[in-house]
Amino acid sequence: MYINTFNHCPNTRYQGSKRRLTPWLFDVFSKLEFDSCLDLFGGTASVSYLLKTMGKSVTFNDYLTSNSITSRGIIQNNSVRLYPGDVNSLFEINNHTDIVSEVFSGIFFTDEENLQIDNLIYNINFNKKTSLTGFKKDIALHSLFQSLLMKRPFNLFHRANLYLRTNDVKRSFGNKKTWDTPIKELMERIRLEINSAIFNNGKNHQVFNLDALEVKSGFDLVYLDPPYYAQDKHSPLDYYEYYHFLEGLSNYNSWKSKIDYNRKHRPILKKDASFKSVSFIDDLTTLLSAHQESIIVMSYKSPGYPSIEKLKDIMEETHKKPYIYSKEHTYSLNKNNGHYLENLIVASPKC
Ligand SMILES: C[S@@+](CC[C@H](N)C(=O)[O-])C[C@H]1O[C@@H](n2cnc3c(N)ncnc32)[C@H](O)[C@@H]1O
Repeated sequence: MYINTFNHCPNTRYQGSKRRLTPWLFDVFSKLEFDSCLDLFGGTASVSYLLKTMGKSVTFNDYLTSNSITSRGIIQNNSVRLYPGDVNSLFEINNHTDIVSEVFSGIFFTDEENLQIDNLIYNINFNKKTSLTGFKKDIALHSLFQSLLMKRPFNLFHRANLYLRTNDVKRSFGNKKTWDTPIKELMERIRLEINSAIFNNGKNHQVFNLDALEVKSGFDLVYLDPPYYAQDKHSPLDYYEYYHFLEGLSNYNSWKSKIDYNRKHRPILKKDASFKSVSFIDDLTTLLSAHQESIIVMSYKSPGYPSIEKLKDIMEETHKKPYIYSKEHTYSLNKNNGHYLENLIVASPKC
């Protein structure tokens, strides 16, 4: 099943995506006996997709709403596809200026693109003649999110740096051709990609949009891929900071009141969440204790914080002595950062 369908796993443009590591993850997951599984820090859903191709019953979770929308569209959804008849009217221009045009002018996209984004959100969500529901809406939003990531330098929203795209200079990075491709054309590519990715493995799947510590236990296997922290803990990866624009589009009605207008790139004011560098060890201890009856498989990039020795000690409090698989890996969004080891820490329940 894996060989036939994993080739259709959608592309990802995301910090920490494990898509390129899935053949290796497949080897490790294949050694373990389980049916139900929880992908607790699911991100792009590439590992959930792998698990679905392996015939498992998959539960996805991520605290970013945009990621849970993607996951509903490709994991929970077994059969619904988006057709040209569903999307053509979404591109009708109704001059509906709103949050993106008003608040983000000159920050991430051109004024023409901002107007188009406002229109698309209006047409997908609110316009009675064109709006979509259920999995069709999830796929349309996912296509929009991916198109916008493709048009962003570094595929991120962490700086007000539209000028990197528009300045007429020689560049040593980036992909000007994609940046200049119309949103409509990119969305069409993603729509086709998603349509070919959708399949039914005969099992039920669910999607949560919760903090990791809020998800209930009861799975045969729990896969953990928490945010990575460097050894000095000084450069924490902050997913809200990187993808706030997609979060805003996902929660359009409440977006305006949550924006931090004091900062140039207008991020969303942050919610409190677990697994920050300061609380990582305590939160992991709490999490492992809640899932002590599950097999744990944890992705861990080394060197990092906490150390791998510390992680092993924490795991041994609730689970059997862990087994560690390691592999050298370079990261596509971080090519200059030298060599890292990607590790999978596997621990079985004590009873
Ligand atoms: C390393 S990425 C996961 C990548 C994913 N395995 C993939 O292949 O795309 C970590 C994910 O954890 C999510 N996250 C961070 N803190 C979280 C928390 N406290 N609760 C739930 N999700 C969280 C982030 O939004 C991010 O998508």
